[in-house]
Amino acid sequence: MKVTSQRFSEIRWVEETGSTNRDLLDAAIGGGAAGSVLVTDHQTAGRGRQGRTWVDDPGRSLLFSVLLRPDAAHVSVLPLVKGMAIVDALRELGGVNASLKWPNDVLVLDVDGSERKLAGTLAEAVTTSEGLAVVIGSGINVAFVTGPPIEGAIDLVSAGAASVDREQLLDLVLTKLDHWLSELEQNGVSPIIAAYRSRCCTLGRVVTLQTPSGEVIGEAVDIDRSGALVLDVDGVRQVVFAGDTHHRA
Ligand code: BTN
Repeated sequence: MKVTSQRFSEIRWVEETGSTNRDLLDAAIGGGAAGSVLVTDHQTAGRGRQGRTWVDDPGRSLLFSVLLRPDAAHVSVLPLVKGMAIVDALRELGGVNASLKWPNDVLVLDVDGSERKLAGTLAEAVTTSEGLAVVIGSGINVAFVTGPPIEGAIDLVSAGAASVDREQLLDLVLTKLDHWLSELEQNGVSPIIAAYRSRCCTLGRVVTLQTPSGEVIGEAVDIDRSGALVLDVDGVRQVVFAGDTHHRA
């Protein structure tokens, strides 16, 4: 396949595996190089956020993970950066005006005006003898077999994408990701957070957050320098570092 990004030039594409995230975490422990990319047509044990599974129909999604060995100070914003790369790639591909529900669900508007999930991202970190490694994996729905396997999902076909070529999309995402990682390395988190805010459809909305310590309802007012969501809960500022977001209004 065509590979534009220099950082992500080591791409391995396999027919089937358990989880590309699991495989690259193992590779990281074994000394695998930053910039390694693993892509698959099908996962038998795909992992989602918050301990959920990620199920796919063979050949119908773009499923891939990248291995990074980042500066520890940048780790918390990496999941946001990967989401931005997907949104930017989709906008360049054409036909899909995607945005990000905090932290990194890629949403598009369906014909009835409802928000549907096109892609999800899971970042996992591991300490290796070479230092900290982070694996960031994404699943992008390309073409469902018979409709969404879970409620609220949408694929590139229904979203009106100008192309559903997985290799083209992968090359675009890796190019955008390379760009944002270089920006992060050179200029720190400020430009990243500014760019994220402009792609985030959660800000300004009233949301319900399912966090590890319970449910929080408030207005999403900002993204802080760590990538956390800042809520206004009855006039009190509350910072949420992890959770599932539901847009209420
Ligand atoms: C989510 O819950 O929204 C995140 C889903 C992440 C799925 C991707 S598919 C490629 C990579 N390998 C995995 O096991 N999970 C991620």
